[in-house]
Amino acid sequence: MGDENKELEETVGQILEKYRHDKGMLVSVLQDIQAKYRYLPKEALKQVCQGLLVPLSQVYSVATFFKAFSLLPRGRHLINVCLGTACHVRGTDKVLEKIERELGINAGSTTKDLKFTLETVNCVGACALGPIVKVDEEYHGEMSTDKVVSVLKSYT
Ligand code: FES
Repeated sequence: MGDENKELEETVGQILEKYRHDKGMLVSVLQDIQAKYRYLPKEALKQVCQGLLVPLSQVYSVATFFKAFSLLPRGRHLINVCLGTACHVRGTDKVLEKIERELGINAGSTTKDLKFTLETVNCVGACALGPIVKVDEEYHGEMSTDKVVSVLKSYT
């Protein structure tokens, strides 16, 4: 077993301990794991099922039910391109295409270096500033294809 697995096992063990191995706290356990790793590693889910004495199928059904959980590794930064109507009429689809080209991935995926996860949303409530690209908690308004490279470069 590698160091990474050992570290994962210890961390999940501490999280299970924190919730006293209470199966009623399954969602909280998964939230803590998601917060720590930005996704739910398969090994962690197995450990949760043993630690809480719940079937793996139940762990998976909770893990797939909530949109906040991811079963695949996520990037350090989450890019949300708004495809809502107000942003769409101002050309957000071109901005999305440019980001996809720059990162070499399609919306819904994560770059190999785990730097960015790219997703789309329908309206983030800042329509007047559209097209909007939200990176983590930061809003980039009036986005254009010309701004894409500098915005991406501003994240490490
Ligand atoms: S449609 Fe993009 S912020 Fe509302």
